[in-house]
Amino acid sequence: MAFPPSFLSELKSRCDIETIISTYVRLKRAGANSVGNCPFHSEKTPSFTVFRNTQNFYCFGCGAGGDVITFVMRMENLDYLSAVEKLCNMAGMAMPENTYAGTAKKVDRKRIFELNKKAARYFYDALLKPENAHALKYITDRGLTPRTIKHFGIGYADTSFDSLSGYLKSQGYSDEELKEAFLCGINKYNKPFDMFRGRIMFPIIDVSGEVVAFGGRIIGDGMPKYLNSSDTPVFNKRRNLYALNYAKATTDSSLILCEGYMDVVALHQAGFYNAVATLGTAITPEQARVMARYANKIYICYDSDAAGRKATDKAIALLSEAGLSVKVITVKNAKDPDEYIKKFGKASFSSLINGSEGRIEFKFRTLMGNYNLDVPEEKLDFVNKSCEMLCDVYSPVELDVFLMKLSELTGVDITILRNEVNKRRKKREKDENRKEIEQQIQKSMGYGDKINPDRQKFTACASIEENIIGILMLRSDFIKDEEIQKNLNADMFMCEFNRQVFQRLSQIAAESDSNEIDIGQLGQYFNPEQMGAIMRMQVNRSGYSNNSPEVLNELIQRLADQNLKNNATETDLMDYLQKLKEKKK
Ligand code: GTP
Ligand code: MN
Repeated sequence: MAFPPSFLSELKSRCDIETIISTYVRLKRAGANSVGNCPFHSEKTPSFTVFRNTQNFYCFGCGAGGDVITFVMRMENLDYLSAVEKLCNMAGMAMPENTYAGTAKKVDRKRIFELNKKAARYFYDALLKPENAHALKYITDRGLTPRTIKHFGIGYADTSFDSLSGYLKSQGYSDEELKEAFLCGINKYNKPFDMFRGRIMFPIIDVSGEVVAFGGRIIGDGMPKYLNSSDTPVFNKRRNLYALNYAKATTDSSLILCEGYMDVVALHQAGFYNAVATLGTAITPEQARVMARYANKIYICYDSDAAGRKATDKAIALLSEAGLSVKVITVKNAKDPDEYIKKFGKASFSSLINGSEGRIEFKFRTLMGNYNLDVPEEKLDFVNKSCEMLCDVYSPVELDVFLMKLSELTGVDITILRNEVNKRRKKREKDENRKEIEQQIQKSMGYGDKINPDRQKFTACASIEENIIGILMLRSDFIKDEEIQKNLNADMFMCEFNRQVFQRLSQIAAESDSNEIDIGQLGQYFNPEQMGAIMRMQVNRSGYSNNSPEVLNELIQRLADQNLKNNATETDLMDYLQKLKEKKK
């Protein structure tokens, strides 16, 4: 199945790449391009570039690249069809007819969104029914007001095995759809059964306002305490955050990150509208980058137990990695923020925020808590760990403050401590450099090049081929040039991947009647990683001032020479073997 070029170019002209990407990434204009922090890997200085003229993107840090469709595929974890469909919806265009003919069964994401919305409504209505009064009592006893319940759409899944599925089937949804949405399982008699039973239901709403999943808390004691939707065609728990749909609208560019749904709900009710939570898992790099889209500063406010402190360490690392400034709020005399607010009120929580610690302060304090400094061995260990940690402090003033404190605590001379930190820092830099060099060597030798494994065998050819493709990407009209068509054909490409790219480019050019071909059409044949590699060829070549037909012809000539060389070694070898044979005789 391929889309007609006219359809794709219409779609792409309506979905301006800069506009679409801006909804995910903070972009800054820089000449003809726009730049921002890459959403596909963690970085502090922007190397993610949007080329407005060609409507492409490329990250100089991680090599992700492609057109607006590739971007949506990677960002939303969609296949090609679904990404096109999503953009169509945004642009108010209809998908071409027969799009799905011949493709495998495909779930309709739009129907799953509808289904989730109906389920959320169903749970909410159930919470207010007289026969479910105990559920409403549970949640109001925990301090939630009717207004908060409505605001978050909190509901109740009753204990029956088929009330929700019965209702949704009467609304025209299939068993398959109910299962895809994680609202039902299918039992051994092939009948659907309700997944959530006897639980308080928290709908999870994504930043575009769609209900994408649910978290369900058992009423009272029972296992598991929370049941959360698994990943579905519309939900990825690694990328979503609870209540971000509300928190993203707050103005002060900070977020409060909690562990639980109830913490978030309680904080919002108390007026802290920037609270969010992860969805039943530890924080992921993807979530850190999502937060970086909406905020500069994150207050981590996890549970006060040992597990919470450990999770805080991990969150500090991931959030700093994503370029965010991090503060830690420690709740005292309560197990979590929800309980804290209930016990001490919102003014008291405000002062906790004001007294929050910087990341090093927090780490230093918690580290100290693990040691008895009166025991020499422990003291030594503490000094070692502290110096290791202080390697991360790059502000000289801040470093001095902590060194002074460490010296006071341990009685070790501050100059010795400073030297210790510098020594470790040098060693660390050396290690990092070595790692980087090793990676470079591996790359240049072709190890680890999953996209073009042939590069290892045909290093010289690979580079010439990539330059040729790069020019053709920039000047697709050359593909139709007679002279070039005469001199260049697919068989000359030694690397299978490059040959495929060239073949597709030629095919697209042949099918198009204009001189400009839409490179984005390649996205139908190559996955996002491959698209990144193809974009790299184009981006590398656009750094050259001369991409004329003469240069292209010269490259083609060089490729032809390489071809001869490769063939020659083969024939030489045959000759040699032949001679050996004759000698033996
Ligand atoms: P309450 O006990 O109702 O106050 O819950 P809480 O929101 O304070 O949650 P808690 O601190 O116990 O856990 C934090 C988060 O971890 C929850 O919001 C859930 O997302 C998740 N979680 C907790 N228990 C479970 C469980 O048994 N299974 C799964 N999958 N997730 C859980
Ligand atoms: Mn709690």
